[in-house]
Amino acid sequence: MRVLSGIQPTGRPHWGNYFGAIRQYIALQEQHEGFYFIADLHALTTVRDAAVLRQNTLDAALDLLALGLDPTRATLFVQSHIPQVSELCWLLMTGTGMGLLERCHAYKEKKAKGLQADAGLFTYPVLMSADILAYDSQLVPVGQDQIQHIEVCRDLAASFNASFGETFLLPKASVLEHAAKVPGTDGQKMSKSYGNTLDLFGDEKQIRKSIMRIVTDSRPMDQPKEPTEDHLFLLYRLVASPEEADLMADKYRKGGFGYGEVKKGIADASEAYFQRARLRRAELVQNLDHVQDVLAEGAQRAREVAAKVLERAQRACGLR
Ligand code: ADP
Ligand code: TRP
Repeated sequence: MRVLSGIQPTGRPHWGNYFGAIRQYIALQEQHEGFYFIADLHALTTVRDAAVLRQNTLDAALDLLALGLDPTRATLFVQSHIPQVSELCWLLMTGTGMGLLERCHAYKEKKAKGLQADAGLFTYPVLMSADILAYDSQLVPVGQDQIQHIEVCRDLAASFNASFGETFLLPKASVLEHAAKVPGTDGQKMSKSYGNTLDLFGDEKQIRKSIMRIVTDSRPMDQPKEPTEDHLFLLYRLVASPEEADLMADKYRKGGFGYGEVKKGIADASEAYFQRARLRRAELVQNLDHVQDVLAEGAQRAREVAAKVLERAQRACGLR
């Protein structure tokens, strides 16, 4: 089965990105054909500085490789290196209802805040659909907030197929349930745009500080609590072993311990959890030629697939 997912190079990756999405792709590469890309075209809707976009794109490749993406198993590439996707995007755009896009959350939320949205943000789900359809992707592992976009993709594919005959495969989304919404340091959903993230690769001391500053529940700790209702426990569970998480859950149910203890537990467990990735990233930074080669080979493989799909779609709708 072909699995595809993309990550936007818009800033440093955080726990939400990793536990909500990246960890899934990496696991799926073992059993499936993985196509993973860095969505630099999507990032242009927010990053308006060439040097920053270039650096973020390289950083994202380093991050994914450090976190275990294996280029001998999976195909890793940069979205804009596959021009066929942009062309496919246009073919899909011609059949996309305005109402459908007006209901999509990224655009709707920006507009609700009274901010100016551009056409790139408005049509963002169509480009995302082209990303998915261009490779005949069957499974798309993403965080919960992206499910709506996969639904749009299925709608657009089905409507193209209805007009022009069977052309596109309809993909399925996959979400990791217990990490579907990783909480941030303020207890709300972790997101770059809320400034409540825990970074994967930042300075260790700084990350420890952010962990110690996580807001806590106002209920006194001597009262027994249901662990899964506390964001500190939810974060701890992500980085601790199942045995450690069970022990901590028992403490919650008994009551009578401090939040400081849980925070220290999160900091210690996360350092151990991400240590291998940190070491691997430091090695990769010393070998950027290798990283560029991986991206070039990935793009070549991805272009071969996308070119065939694009030609199929062009023929179907009367362009060839
Ligand atoms: P951000 O909200 O920080 O801008 P992105 O929108 O770039 O993050 O998300 C990249 C990927 O990580 C997406 O698949 C998204 O669903 C997932 N993701 C982001 N934040 C979380 C979170 N807090 N919990 C679970 N998954 C998340
Ligand atoms: N929109 C996704 C995000 O913000 C990134 C993305 C772009 C993507 N194209 C995709 C994810 C195709 C999955 C499939 O996280």
